[in-house]
Amino acid sequence: MKYKSQKVAYWFFAFSLLLLFLQIIYGFIMGFDRIGLQGLHEIIPFNTARAVHTNLLVVWLLSGFMGAAYYIIPEEAQHELVSVKLAYVQLISLAVVAVTAIIGFHFNIWEGRKFLEIPRPLDYLVVVNVLLFLGLILLTLFKGKRKTTTALVLSMGLLFAALLYLPGMIPFDSQVLDSFFRWWVVHLWVEGVWELIMGGILSFLLIKLTGVDREVIEKWLYVIVGLTFLSGILGTGHHYYYIGVNKIWIIVGGIFSALEPLAFLAMALFAVNMYRKGEKKHPNKTALLWTIGSAIVSFIGAGLLGFAHTLPQTNIYTHGTLVTAMHGHLAFWGAYAMIVFAIISYALPNMTGRKFLDSNVGRMAFWISNIGMIGMTISFGVAGVAQVYMERIMKMEFMAVQKLISIHFVVLIILASLFTIGILLYMYEFIKHGTPTDEALETQEN
Ligand code: HEM
Ligand code: HEM
Ligand SMILES: [Fe+2]
Repeated sequence: MKYKSQKVAYWFFAFSLLLLFLQIIYGFIMGFDRIGLQGLHEIIPFNTARAVHTNLLVVWLLSGFMGAAYYIIPEEAQHELVSVKLAYVQLISLAVVAVTAIIGFHFNIWEGRKFLEIPRPLDYLVVVNVLLFLGLILLTLFKGKRKTTTALVLSMGLLFAALLYLPGMIPFDSQVLDSFFRWWVVHLWVEGVWELIMGGILSFLLIKLTGVDREVIEKWLYVIVGLTFLSGILGTGHHYYYIGVNKIWIIVGGIFSALEPLAFLAMALFAVNMYRKGEKKHPNKTALLWTIGSAIVSFIGAGLLGFAHTLPQTNIYTHGTLVTAMHGHLAFWGAYAMIVFAIISYALPNMTGRKFLDSNVGRMAFWISNIGMIGMTISFGVAGVAQVYMERIMKMEFMAVQKLISIHFVVLIILASLFTIGILLYMYEFIKHGTPTDEALETQEN
């Protein structure tokens, strides 16, 4: 059974894809900068492009998560969203905050704190926006007929993500303290509470797409939540090795962060097993591809490539190099971008009534973007390893090394173009579905 208010999700998804498109443009600006083609340098220098690229990433993913929640919560709770009007107000205010922040970045109004560049005053608007979002979601859940594990894990993830934004707003004079608490946001998001959001969406999709019993699927979800908390919280220590805090973090961070891949492994096994077990397969093959794909690629990008530089003995060499960018791209892509693509692919035909459930374009979008992103990851990796060797072992000068590795960015741009073709195909199909209608939602069964 579907609910009319679920269609709010569509506009969050559309906004999300729009920002992804912009993010990619800034990615190319940086890629060209790296090979010496710096025509835009005066207007958009590398550091501005970088801040815009990563902040757009965070906002489009959050918009995707919000869309996912607006779609999933009414259905799980069996209750219409408490206010559709306020949900639109929330979307518009999110867009206003995002656009203001991004424009500000171009006028050098930003803070030099990677991923948290939004100036503190604007942060208060973010807080108001998120409170409104959470209010709507939690009230719907509270008033609903059912409180499923899937809905609770998803809402808990969103609630904790909001709370964890706060430590990043405390002003510090000390660089060490500032860095210490910045990781409460950045690390505890992607290696903690966002995993709950991912787990919740994954669980919802697997219930719908594989036909396996909810009880079985939700048992796995508990395992994932358990593993995430066990490893992710103290795993924060892998950012504290050499920043000026107590040396105990070298041991604690090393051990617990080395366990973090287990949560991603559990997610991959979970998805593949449920897929194998499922007898009643849903006709939406595109959504299934993105769902299983997300669980597997996140294990590679976050689990394996995260592990590759998490031990203190390795991290002392690789810290802050392109090895980090290698891991950052595939982890964000696999875990969070792909799960957003999965929920969009599932929800879209249900909301619009137009079905391209197993189209060639849909399948090509999946394969081309993934091959492109894996290729980009390899380019970053090769550049990163060369950088580490020349800069940190041969002790060559920083800029001299950057020049020598620029050839890898030619390769990166080619593969990024392939990736972009995949994304454009996905967007083409999104647009082809048209906009949501009440009739479509009312006639949907599954
Ligand atoms: C989906 C989950 C993940 C995402 C999206 C992600 C993304 C990122 C990003 C963007 C950075 C750079 C942060 C910054 O410098 O501000 C980073 C750093 C790092 N990540 Fe992950 N990560 C994930 C999971 C993991 C896991 C599971 C591990 C360990 C097993 C790991 C290990 C590391 C390490 C050691 C660094 C620090 C690199 C350095 O010192 O420069 N990550 N991650
Ligand atoms: C056409 C596509 C893209 C290109 C050409 C591109 C290129 C780049 C470049 C050149 C950097 C800066 C690396 C440096 O410091 O030198 C960067 C940073 C980053 N990009 Fe992309 N990117 C693209 C798409 C994406 C996508 C789709 C995602 C996420 C799913 C992403 C996530 C990131 C992250 C997390 C960072 C920061 C990494 C770090 O902290 O080290 N990018 N990107
Ligand atoms: Fe981390």
